[in-house]
Amino acid sequence: MPRNSQIHTMSANSPHASLYEAFRDPVTHVDLQPVREGLANGSSTAFEFMDGDPGVVDFMAPSPASAADEANLKMYNDESSTEKYRNFLRWLFKTFEVDEDWFRADLLSRLAITDGMKVLVVGCGLGEDVALIQNDIGATGQVHAQDISKSMVKAARASIHAPNVCFSVSNALKLPYKSRYFDVVFHFGGINLFGDLKQAISELERVCKIGGRVVFGDEGIAPHLRGTEYADVLIHNNPLWALEAPMRELPSNADAVTLEYLLGNCFYLITFTPGEGFPKVNLDVPHVGARGGSARTRYYGRLEGVSVETKRKLLDAAQARGISMHDLLEQVIGAQLADAQPRSPQT
Ligand SMILES: C[S@@+](CC[C@H](N)C(=O)[O-])C[C@H]1O[C@@H](n2cnc3c(N)ncnc32)[C@H](O)[C@@H]1O
Repeated sequence: MPRNSQIHTMSANSPHASLYEAFRDPVTHVDLQPVREGLANGSSTAFEFMDGDPGVVDFMAPSPASAADEANLKMYNDESSTEKYRNFLRWLFKTFEVDEDWFRADLLSRLAITDGMKVLVVGCGLGEDVALIQNDIGATGQVHAQDISKSMVKAARASIHAPNVCFSVSNALKLPYKSRYFDVVFHFGGINLFGDLKQAISELERVCKIGGRVVFGDEGIAPHLRGTEYADVLIHNNPLWALEAPMRELPSNADAVTLEYLLGNCFYLITFTPGEGFPKVNLDVPHVGARGGSARTRYYGRLEGVSVETKRKLLDAAQARGISMHDLLEQVIGAQLADAQPRSPQT
């Protein structure tokens, strides 16, 4: 890696020039500029094009691989991995008696892609989905596709040479893309093993625009089939099917969340839209009724508790006055405390 090599700026006419604006340094997060050998983060070429191909940027070379990365690379990055993976896919679709092309087209219809969109495919494998998405985005759209395995990216790139498609060899846990860049972010089939599910989902969310769409799925049998012979046989064959859809790992700003099960109900598929933050809520709407108060006072105004007898008397007294227990408590405690001196923080 010639980190200090001389920089030769790349012509803006390069077919991929406008696609490089999507990238950022996955470690320092600085923007990158295209140069002849790759992408530069200041004065040196930090990330080279794979085999000199300007359609593939290699972000893996400088970063050390974690144990999970090593395991994935062992599975997907050796000489025979692409053939082994093809065999696995043939077995999978035969087992569930589903046509792979039909399945992928049906899956991708959930992305609701329209002309001009920017789409990211994470863990793209052999690139079948990339080719289909490329047909849907029109001339002004962009498809970026990444995978940690050079072998997979090479195989995918071999069949896709469109000027609006750009690949990267990179880690899904540290995506080399700018925040809020994509309209749609898609992944299928590998996230359970990326090593840190929460971090992987957080990265899918980070690079997606607010109001965009994140769609991802992997092995995990639907809950209503658990404990059946059907599930037991399949889980025995592939323990990954025992995993559950990671609904608790979704970010707190996930809106319009859907969960479906596909392929014999053995794969979960989660869809969500990144929102501005937590859902909107008004904690101060008063409750009508004997207890009164609001969601805020009931949660934040909890006291030490009184005897059962005192609580009963309080309810009777509140009803006799035609007010809620909350309002009577406010009055009684407020009156008692009216003259009290505030305590110093130490007491
Ligand atoms: C089961 S394959 C799925 C491929 C493709 N999405 C498909 O539907 O056929 C999982 C893919 O995830 C990739 N992968 C594994 N760990 C990764 C990581 N940390 N970052 C990016 N890709 C990863 C593997 O190299 C492999 O290509």
